[in-house]
Amino acid sequence: MNSWLMHALSVMLVFCCRDAISCPKRCTCHFSAKSTEVVCPDAGLSHFPGEGLPGNTTSLTIQYTNLSVLTSQHLKAIPLLEELHLPGNKLSSLPADLLKDLHYLHTIDLTDNELRELPANVFHHAPLLNLVLKDNRISILHPDWLPSNSNLTWLDLSGNHLMKFPMAQLQSLSHLKILHLSQNKLEELPVGCLDAHPALERLHLDQNKIQSLDVKAFSHSANLTHIFLQKNRLDSLPSPVFQGLKRLEYVDLSENRLQFLSPGILDINTSWVELTFNPWHCDTKIEYLWRKLTMESLQSEPKCATPENLKDRVIATLTRKEMGLPE
Ligand SMILES: *[C@@H]1O[C@H](CO)[C@@H](O)[C@H](O)[C@H]1NC(C)=O
Ligand SMILES: *[C@@H]1O[C@H](CO)[C@@H](O)[C@H](O)[C@H]1NC(C)=O
Ligand SMILES: *[C@@H]1O[C@H](CO)[C@@H](O)[C@H](O)[C@H]1NC(C)=O
Ligand SMILES: *[C@@H]1O[C@H](CO)[C@@H](O)[C@H](O)[C@H]1NC(C)=O
Ligand SMILES: *[C@@H]1O[C@H](CO)[C@@H](O)[C@H](O)[C@H]1NC(C)=O
Repeated sequence: MNSWLMHALSVMLVFCCRDAISCPKRCTCHFSAKSTEVVCPDAGLSHFPGEGLPGNTTSLTIQYTNLSVLTSQHLKAIPLLEELHLPGNKLSSLPADLLKDLHYLHTIDLTDNELRELPANVFHHAPLLNLVLKDNRISILHPDWLPSNSNLTWLDLSGNHLMKFPMAQLQSLSHLKILHLSQNKLEELPVGCLDAHPALERLHLDQNKIQSLDVKAFSHSANLTHIFLQKNRLDSLPSPVFQGLKRLEYVDLSENRLQFLSPGILDINTSWVELTFNPWHCDTKIEYLWRKLTMESLQSEPKCATPENLKDRVIATLTRKEMGLPE
């Protein structure tokens, strides 16, 4: 072999192996002046990619792999971590000391794993702001899963198996702005369940089995802008449940079991209210809704379900006579 070729090979070797040292196999690493981001998207990965993980990693993503075990020992090697994204893996449990050495971690995404329970203290030890646990199998949250001085602003527990609103477990979250509890099995909202969250702006409760709302459900939540209640079992709303919500921009009540609305319920500061796919019964009691739809042009086109002769008629197009009202 001539010396030029030898030289070329050795140069290649240095480059290949220096790269291999600074980034784990099956992962890509992005270095910038402020951050080191590691992304491991390989379905064949089944263990934590600890070897070659840069010690100054600030963001780690391991997604859609076979990863089933994660320990505090793994994460100890990357103490500057700020974001941990682990969607689509096979994690079925987390150790209570997982975040022990992560003093900068503000975001964890555990979407689409196999978590069932969360132990005491599991999210203590880190200054978390965003916690996403969407699409797991969680039915039990330990009352002490988050620290009492938590600064969490975004919590996503949608797509789990919660049967009850986790009131005690959320009690310490006074900074919460976004709460997702969609696609669970909630049947009721306990009285006062949102009172501990005065900063709440977006409340996602759609696709549960909620049958009723307490008249004071939102009375301590003056900053609410969006309320998602579609696909529940609401058959009536207590008036004036939305009163005092001055920042309200959007309410979704579609696909419930509402037959009429009591007067006053929609005397609120938004016309963006979704009302379709309810079994509206178009007799004299529909007058309040009809007025709202015709005079304040709500951005929804609900239709009558009954009586039979008015089935599928757009409520806003009814005549007073059709509703049985004096002309
Ligand atoms: C992280 O380490 C790499 C490799 O040693 C270096 O190039 C990069 O500048 C470091 N990044 C930070 C934010 O310290
Ligand atoms: C994932 O792990 C399971 C069980 O450990 C194994 O049977 C399967 O082959 C693994 N899949 C891949 C893509 O490595
Ligand atoms: C929440 O923020 C306060 C004030 O910045 C801080 O003292 C406290 O340690 C934070 N809580 C957590 C759990 O990081
Ligand atoms: C409500 O929102 C305003 C404006 O963003 C903010 O100043 C205020 O602190 C919020 N209230 C609570 C209780 O967080
Ligand atoms: C309705 O909202 C607008 C825009 O945020 C605000 O200026 C107005 O004061 C609100 N009115 C009431 C009655 O809350």
